Amino acid sequence: MSAVTASSYRGVNPQSRSVRKRRNPSVPDSPAPRGPVPRRRRFLVCEPTYFDVKYAINPWMRPGEPVHTGRARAQWQQLVSAYRAHGHTVETVAPVPGLPDMVFAANAAVVVGGRVFGSLFHAPERRPESVPYETWFKGAGFDVHHPEAVCEGEGDLVPVGRWILAGTGFRTTREAHHEVQEYFGRPVIGLTLVDPYFYHLDTALFVLDDGQAGGEGNIAYYPGAFSPGSREVLARLYPDAVLATREDAMAFGLNSVSDGRHVFIAPEATGLAGRLAALGYVPVPVDLSEFHKAGGGIKCCTQEIRENRS
Ligand code: ARG
Repeated sequence: MSAVTASSYRGVNPQSRSVRKRRNPSVPDSPAPRGPVPRRRRFLVCEPTYFDVKYAINPWMRPGEPVHTGRARAQWQQLVSAYRAHGHTVETVAPVPGLPDMVFAANAAVVVGGRVFGSLFHAPERRPESVPYETWFKGAGFDVHHPEAVCEGEGDLVPVGRWILAGTGFRTTREAHHEVQEYFGRPVIGLTLVDPYFYHLDTALFVLDDGQAGGEGNIAYYPGAFSPGSREVLARLYPDAVLATREDAMAFGLNSVSDGRHVFIAPEATGLAGRLAALGYVPVPVDLSEFHKAGGGIKCCTQEIRENRS
């Protein structure tokens, strides 16, 4: 784990390529961190009090395979501690009995510019989750749009740079992509997922640099999860993307969270972590293996609240 002090942070998150050798002009006496620069994030999570595998809605789930509740809770707590230790704000929504997947906060919404596009789950078992999350957002003072089409929040909707990458094929529909574009007024880039193990976009792709300081940002992804046309789209948009192997993807390595510098990543995704480290990112391993039994990992457990209106 890396030690991070408040002075490592700036209000901006320039593209990794352009900042590698630049010093921080706003803090003349403190040496700027080398490499990509982090930005503080606001995260929403849900304690795994009722987490379990009760039904199968993706190939990872085997109802009957025991989930170690104590271990799950300890792993989740380590994720929260890692975020806080790196300067991020973590807020919690109260878990609801009978909703074993509610821990996967990413699926509940996508938040851009302080506006919340809620969820309408594909699986009937998960549909009731939308309500407690919407209630939380409303209570926190946000406007919430409840979607008309099936849409699973940040599971399939990934804001980066000027646009929103949007997965479809297993959960979120094309109709929802249209609805998201109309709501946020940002171009939505539809990407087709083809491998049932990577049923959500956030199992196959994550944002390394969200482009908040300009530029298009940058991503890491596993090409094999996408249709040929979608692979071409990604190659055109992100020629400098970090490409991951199927092995890293199956280890939930693409279900990572980056703050622009630190990458909270599954410890088994060693190949990807090595490549990221070579580019100046700082991998922070967090083991969420109990949650892999439900088809979820670090990003699935993390909703990012983006308030910046730019
Ligand atoms: N069991 C959950 C489902 O299949 C896992 C969701 C994981 N979340 C994610 N963002 N990929 O819906």
